[in-house]
Amino acid sequence: MKLNNLLLSILCILLISSCQSDPEISFESSSTEKFRPLYHFTPESGWMNDPNGLIYLDGEYHLFYQHYPDGTVWGPMHWGHAVSTDLVNWESLPIALYPDSLGYIFSGSAVLDAENSSGLGSAENPPMVAIFTYHNAEEANTSSDTFQNQAIAFSLDKGRTWEKYEGNPVLPNPGIRDFRDPKVSQITNADGTKSWIMTLAVLDHINFYSSPDLKSWTLLSEFGKTIGAHGGVWECPDLLPFKTPSGEDKWVLLVSINPGGPQNGSATQYFIGDFENGGFTPDDTMIRWLDYGPDNYAGVTWSNLPSDQNRTLFIGWMSNWLYANVVPTQAWRSAMTIPRELSLFDIDGTLLLKSAPAKEMEKLRAVEFKVNTETSALPSEAVEITAGVSDNSFLITFSNELGEKLLISKENGLVSIDRRNAGKSDFNPDFAAMHSAPMSWEAKDIRIFLDASSIELFINDGELAMTSILFPTSPWKTVDLSENLKSLKLYNLKK
Ligand code: FRU
Repeated sequence: MKLNNLLLSILCILLISSCQSDPEISFESSSTEKFRPLYHFTPESGWMNDPNGLIYLDGEYHLFYQHYPDGTVWGPMHWGHAVSTDLVNWESLPIALYPDSLGYIFSGSAVLDAENSSGLGSAENPPMVAIFTYHNAEEANTSSDTFQNQAIAFSLDKGRTWEKYEGNPVLPNPGIRDFRDPKVSQITNADGTKSWIMTLAVLDHINFYSSPDLKSWTLLSEFGKTIGAHGGVWECPDLLPFKTPSGEDKWVLLVSINPGGPQNGSATQYFIGDFENGGFTPDDTMIRWLDYGPDNYAGVTWSNLPSDQNRTLFIGWMSNWLYANVVPTQAWRSAMTIPRELSLFDIDGTLLLKSAPAKEMEKLRAVEFKVNTETSALPSEAVEITAGVSDNSFLITFSNELGEKLLISKENGLVSIDRRNAGKSDFNPDFAAMHSAPMSWEAKDIRIFLDASSIELFINDGELAMTSILFPTSPWKTVDLSENLKSLKLYNLKK
């Protein structure tokens, strides 16, 4: 009996010590290709840009994406395809949509046509319908203005195989060169009937269309000709219903713009207002940006999420058209951001959109290290750091043995990511830059996600977000955390 007790005590001590959260940190190099992210989605090979056709169905998050499988620069666009059951592990599936005689397959969305309004499936097996832009590249090289047209395809086997609709295009071009990126959602009208609404980027504004069946579309209204940022063409919109913190209904219109973003090149602006009687009316004329870093573009949200998830789930393309085609990766080009949950918050009476890391990201935390504000070693290329902030300012410096540095800070109301000396940058003159964002209100806590070639910064659970890609010649090995950071935690992230 006594011996049993003794053994039990020894076992307990062993167990407790193995669960302690401050193990010695030693750097564990990833065996993957240089710069290949460990937990961000990348295509196995070839080129990737915008996320497309985000839809949840029967336990699977589908991620389609702009893809050129035969090269690592932008080319004839296909829809690549991957699925995940947890937003962290992605399984690559065969290409969903190939270009054909009508053109390349540009960006778009996917819906579940649950009532088979399109007639493309059946009541028992409702179709998944993809709505995309055909871009006719040959015609684009002529004086024609009608080379971008909206079309649909459908799948009756959970997105595994697709058939293009024989009556394509479903929304022919009226004679406008930039006419693309349909995002379709379903709304319930005042009389209880349902309509499909297409939000379409047209030059540098938005057109809204409606349809009873996804096949015939009627123009409802236009928005944005004289409001918002207009430094470039508008692309990849999304129209989203939200509740404000006080319980009011509001709509948010996401609009990506290239160029003309706050850090040069590509970025996503958004408008807050009402969508009523087929038209969008913004609450004010303020220009708002979803992410103040240089590398979060063309992001959109998942459709058909179960209502008990009670969230708006977003993912963006983690690059910028300024240099996307020349970043120094080998077998593939570009990654997606981590998935994020969007919601509205209020700062001194002004509504803004926040983007917090999706809760599933916590599953990546493999080992927790307690660190202090001295120099800390990093356990790998994939880490998360969380901290409280006092005095509304902080400085974090990641370094490697080559003297390269990545600086993250808040000072005098400006949040900055400084990648001027953060590794390879000779591929583009604009890349080595310091990017800053105004944040007039207090920073109370931070979360940082570092991967082999990116950093994502979330302040106050995403009230301010900044995303930046970077290419350190050797991985970051240490981090220095300023005195005003409290309750510091460092996690080694593993899938
Ligand atoms: C945005 C975009 C879209 C277009 C696609 C082409 O990054 O330019 O407007 O559909 O990429 O790949």
